[in-house]
Amino acid sequence: MLNNPKNQGMVLWFTGLSGAGKTTIANKIAKILSEEGSKYELIDGDVLREQLNWDLGFDEDGRKKNVNIAGYTANLLSKHGVIVLVTLISPFKEQRDRIKMSINNFVEIYVNTPLEVCIQRDHKGLYKKALANEIPNFTGISHPYEAPLKPDVEIDTSIISIDDCVKKIINFLNEKIARLD
Ligand code: ADX
Repeated sequence: MLNNPKNQGMVLWFTGLSGAGKTTIANKIAKILSEEGSKYELIDGDVLREQLNWDLGFDEDGRKKNVNIAGYTANLLSKHGVIVLVTLISPFKEQRDRIKMSINNFVEIYVNTPLEVCIQRDHKGLYKKALANEIPNFTGISHPYEAPLKPDVEIDTSIISIDDCVKKIINFLNEKIARLD
């Protein structure tokens, strides 16, 4: 349970490879927040690209614009007491760090599931295509992912259960909120 008596807005920024488990974990946290009556919003890379950023590609410029739009929007919402869950590969460290500096309560969650595990899972069949050179600029295959050096929370969904990942994040948030009071 999240103990947030003053309804602090914040941004939970999930970064990691495609298939790492970012959206699965964020959805579970969103469900808890919803059941508790907290104000929350989800900004997911796949949805953002489908609804708004359909014209952006996966080269450096396209990704940077996509990530900036998410960061800007998350900041606006969080200023009004919303807990914003952002799930984006967001592969560039310097860009994530810049967004972190611009947001009051920013929590960087590194979903550090190994590439080999993401390739094995391949829920969307994209790794198979990327490995066959059918998709250019694929993160981890033909495009870089710059891991966070000091994330607030780091989780590997190949060694701990989704429920334990959720607990780890909620515990971190409760400690952080207690320090803010
Ligand atoms: S980001 O780099 O701009 O942050 P974002 O999180 O929005 O990426 O989108 C990632 C999702 O787009 C992946 O989960 C995958 O479903 C899809 N996708 C399509 N092409 C690529 C690609 N070249 N690299 C990574 N993901 C891709």
